[in-house]
Amino acid sequence: MKILLIGASGMVGSRVAAEALSRGHEVVGVTRGGRADDLPSHPRLTLAAADAGDAKALAGLAAGADAVVAALPPARDGSPATGPYLAVAGSIIDGTRQAEVKRLIWVGGAGSLEVGGGKRLFETEGFPEAYKAEALAQGEVLDVFRELTDLGWTYVSPAAEIAPGERTGEFRVGGDALLSDAEGRSRVSAEDFAVALVDTLEKGDHVRERITVAY
Ligand SMILES: NC(=O)c1ccc[n+]([C@@H]2O[C@H](COP(=O)([O-])OP(=O)(O)OC[C@H]3O[C@@H](n4cnc5c(N)ncnc54)[C@H](OP(=O)(O)O)[C@@H]3O)[C@@H](O)[C@H]2O)c1
Repeated sequence: MKILLIGASGMVGSRVAAEALSRGHEVVGVTRGGRADDLPSHPRLTLAAADAGDAKALAGLAAGADAVVAALPPARDGSPATGPYLAVAGSIIDGTRQAEVKRLIWVGGAGSLEVGGGKRLFETEGFPEAYKAEALAQGEVLDVFRELTDLGWTYVSPAAEIAPGERTGEFRVGGDALLSDAEGRSRVSAEDFAVALVDTLEKGDHVRERITVAY
């Protein structure tokens, strides 16, 4: 499979790249500078410079790909997050359409996962202020995807905590509800999250669904 991966140098994106490459896929990794210094070079990895806001550039890079994967966050520097992020999502959707790629996987947020009582995680007391803007922006992007009928999208929410760790291959895949472990923690390693994402790509399942990955 040929995958256009936007955000290939990121905490999540670099692990998705490594997982996809290890399974024999071809990855075109996109960052603004065309660099992914922590990703070892690989014969099936090409790096390209493009801004995710440039739909035309993305379309050119996505030509002939089987799937587009987006793993880039909204602004984390305190500047407005939602509006610009919705624009980036629109650009990635447009670029995917222009390239006539039918599959689009979006690495989303945990904040919009349901926690019971009609509430989403980011609406609960104690949700960290530092993550609120990102969570809200990601929630709005999910609403955009829910209206999309012409692309085979999947919005993949990590557990509440995602960080570099071990690739165990053992995790659960859920739907719209937050998944927590026996100790009440919602967590997953970025490596296992990448396994689940590439599983979904390979199986072609969870089309036009939001899923979540957690222990
Ligand atoms: N628990 C949670 O809900 C949770 C926690 C963490 C992350 N996430 C989600 O996971 C995804 C990935 O986050 P991350 O932490 O892995 O991000 P990250 O480490 O900051 O990596 C972001 C990647 O995107 C690239 N990028 C950023 N803006 C770009 C643009 N305009 N055009 C092209 N490339 C761009 C960056 O490269 P350059 O800067 O070189 O362009 C980098 O490769 C996001 O959707 C984030 O919201 C969710």
